Amino acid sequence: MEKEKNRHSFSGSIGFVLAAAGSAVGLGNIWRFPYLAAKDGGGLFLVIYLILALTFGFTLLTTEIAIGRKTKQSPLTAYGKLKEKWGFLGILACLVPVIIMPYYSVIGGWVVKYLLAYLTGQGASAAADGYFTGYITGTAEPLIFMVVFLLVVAVIIYRGVNHGIESFSKVLMPLLLLMVVGIAAFSLTIHATDESGVTRSGLEGFWIYVIPSFKGLTVKGFFTVLLDAMGQLFFSLSVAMGIMIAYGSYVKDDANLVKSINQIEIFDTAVAFLAGVMIIPAVYTFMGREGMEASGPSLMFVSLPKVFSSMGRIGNLIGALFFAMVLFAALTSAVSVMEAVVSSFMDQFHMSRAKATVLEALIALAGGVLVCLGYNKLYFDIVLPNGAHAQVLDIMDYISNNCLMPLVAIGTCILIGWVVTPKTIIEEAEKTGCKFGRKQLYIVMIRFIAPALLVILLLKSIGILTI
Ligand code: PHE
Repeated sequence: MEKEKNRHSFSGSIGFVLAAAGSAVGLGNIWRFPYLAAKDGGGLFLVIYLILALTFGFTLLTTEIAIGRKTKQSPLTAYGKLKEKWGFLGILACLVPVIIMPYYSVIGGWVVKYLLAYLTGQGASAAADGYFTGYITGTAEPLIFMVVFLLVVAVIIYRGVNHGIESFSKVLMPLLLLMVVGIAAFSLTIHATDESGVTRSGLEGFWIYVIPSFKGLTVKGFFTVLLDAMGQLFFSLSVAMGIMIAYGSYVKDDANLVKSINQIEIFDTAVAFLAGVMIIPAVYTFMGREGMEASGPSLMFVSLPKVFSSMGRIGNLIGALFFAMVLFAALTSAVSVMEAVVSSFMDQFHMSRAKATVLEALIALAGGVLVCLGYNKLYFDIVLPNGAHAQVLDIMDYISNNCLMPLVAIGTCILIGWVVTPKTIIEEAEKTGCKFGRKQLYIVMIRFIAPALLVILLLKSIGILTI
């Protein structure tokens, strides 16, 4: 009891919403959402994503934040406090951020490197063929930048919930929003003529992004769109990895949970949508439709630098702004990942924040070194059960995102839906007299629909289902 009283909390709901949105808004919003939207029929994907956010996403996010606030525990110990026999789910949930932190830091390091390249006016070399591969297969630099990124995250975590996570998010998230809006607006104004004399404009690219396309849509195609949207949403909300439980445990008892959850979802979805407005028109204008087929690291570190260099002199500035924005998104996400582990160490082993931070930073460092070596001395190429070629980074990503996260989410739905019953969550959310609103929807979602969707997602992720 004494311990719970000493637990820090966010100073108010704005701090909580911005920190949680900081976690949710990450690389996925920028390098995956726009690509999926362009591939899956533009507006059609957007509409399905929105419907899922209001139902499936709302259910998962509410559940985790309420578990955190109710138990006042970090993920490792929260599940056991709800129901002793389910403590194992806490171990699985905590394992996810332990695995993610190292490779997220390596990617964060790549972003730092690109930001520096643009700030020092070397955008043209960053756009050259082979620059990215040359960089990540190097020996020292990827390691150094990974350490820089990791250190910044560790310092923020060491400073604690209020002086670290909250104050940092309160500065970075509004700035990030401003930058995304600015770059998106710029993207809509550009046009260019290619060698064959075809002129394309940002505005045309924008329409490709938002107008629903039903051309050649089959039932199977519809399911692909549905599953893509669901997988993206699931990853984007930072659920099933203990983060939202940890952040929920810092929410004051008198805060309006439902309202905050809606705001977090709106922030996350708005940034994902705007990332599309920023990227799709620019890629379309300078590279045509083929350029829109890239996603993930190759979109961010190969295609976009080429787009920036086609913009002429302003390209360096736009590139610098873009990578600063990506860095902010990556930092606030990485902070949440580390906090999920550090808070777990603190609650389980009664460690001080300082010790827990150093321990987790060392674990991440060791893993990060392995990831970097995976492109260099330890290089190998294996094929995963879902058919993807993989090195160390991809294997870690596969285990955490494709296997563990869906499993944790399915376990959480069963625990809440059938063992401790949805009432536990609804009562927690309504504790302060605020109205839950979608109560019936929540019960049906958590008991039946969400676990069913998650099982399908798991089967698809591990390559058993091929839609
Ligand atoms: N939710 C983040 C995104 O959409 C990703 C993330 C991954 C956040 C891992 C935290 C931890 O990009």
